[in-house]
Amino acid sequence: MGSQALQILAAHRDRFEVVLLAAHTSADALAAAAAAHGPQAACLTGAPEPPGLPAGTRFFRGPEGLLEALDATGPDTVLNAITGAAGLEASAWTLRHGRTLALANKESLVMAGEYLMPLAARSGARILPVDSEHCAVFQCLHGEDRGALRRVYLTASGGPFRERPLAEFATITREEALRHPTWVMGPRITIGSATMMNKAFEVLEAHWLFGLPSEQIEVVVHPQSIVHSMVEFVDGSMLAQCGVPDMRVPILYCLGFPDRLTFDFAPFAPARWQNLNFLPMDPARYPAVPLAYEVLQRGGDAGAVLNAVDEVATAAFLDGRIPFPAITALSQRVLAERSPRPIDSLQDVLAADAEGRSAANRILSCENSWT
Ligand SMILES: NC(=O)c1ccc[n+]([C@@H]2O[C@H](COP(=O)([O-])OP(=O)(O)OC[C@H]3O[C@@H](n4cnc5c(N)ncnc54)[C@H](OP(=O)(O)O)[C@@H]3O)[C@@H](O)[C@H]2O)c1
Repeated sequence: MGSQALQILAAHRDRFEVVLLAAHTSADALAAAAAAHGPQAACLTGAPEPPGLPAGTRFFRGPEGLLEALDATGPDTVLNAITGAAGLEASAWTLRHGRTLALANKESLVMAGEYLMPLAARSGARILPVDSEHCAVFQCLHGEDRGALRRVYLTASGGPFRERPLAEFATITREEALRHPTWVMGPRITIGSATMMNKAFEVLEAHWLFGLPSEQIEVVVHPQSIVHSMVEFVDGSMLAQCGVPDMRVPILYCLGFPDRLTFDFAPFAPARWQNLNFLPMDPARYPAVPLAYEVLQRGGDAGAVLNAVDEVATAAFLDGRIPFPAITALSQRVLAERSPRPIDSLQDVLAADAEGRSAANRILSCENSWT
């Protein structure tokens, strides 16, 4: 997401000044991006200063360095495309300071929607969803009477195992799970698309972003990933936002909002898409999706626990320590064994995150007990 955003920013240098660039350990990529964009600051949260930073670019290091860099540069807009729980504090910084948050890091809302949404309301910060489904819903709802909304349909490609017999799920390999049929993404979200935990996160994200109760959020499988999501109004009208699967489209929309900016996309060519299918979501194939509704019912810090366990489980699957079905099973088990607690502060969220991780690791360390 970060490198795609840089393509957009490079095409609109007259409109944007890049003040801060951050990555975790991708030192060479950060140095190259800094050389191209000349930011005031650059940060690596997990590595020392790379050689080759421009003379005018101040370097910050570590997770606390990222917050210091935000303080030092004071961006008007933060595009948060950090993966996982590590993105939470940057979202909180942005909303606390009343800035615009272009949010790719859906985990922020999964973990801490209950804390972040009131924070944004108090500071007047705006959240623009970069996630393609939520960007679609945002566009469909723009200028509409929210009272006239009946339901949103979040579309899901179904991932690489939409037609794989369930009996074979235990033998799914890391390489197969990392091969997404329609989107090219980082490893965590790609595995999340295969289990559909990513869609579960998007249900929670839609709940927080648009203030929707469970019964107004539905997931539908759409293998071509052309319709990015749909909304239904009380008069029976459906609005959908469509386009080829290219995350530069929602990034461009959010960075340009409320204007629509140009970019050199190939024309859509509707006749190429003669078969668009919509299929019901099968909870037996995708047990992660019902977990989202369970988390909404449980409330409190259950979302933070879900994200934490899924991060641990995804890493364990990628390391070959657990089979594919155990990724979701681990979350089901930890959530079932724990009563949620209310969230009053960021510390509460971080405590739930730590608890989720240690519960997941404890189960993983007892051989076979998670199956
Ligand atoms: N890719 C998509 O199409 C897509 C679509 C919708 C939403 N999203 C969301 O966007 C976010 C990023 O996804 P991605 O596909 O771009 O993932 P990615 O390619 O793996 O990139 C993740 C970024 O986060 C940084 N990062 C990793 N661990 C970090 C840490 N502990 N602290 C600070 N930064 C850290 C990485 O830096 P290094 O490179 O140095 O490790 C990298 O810049 C996720 O929340 C994902 O759910 C992605």
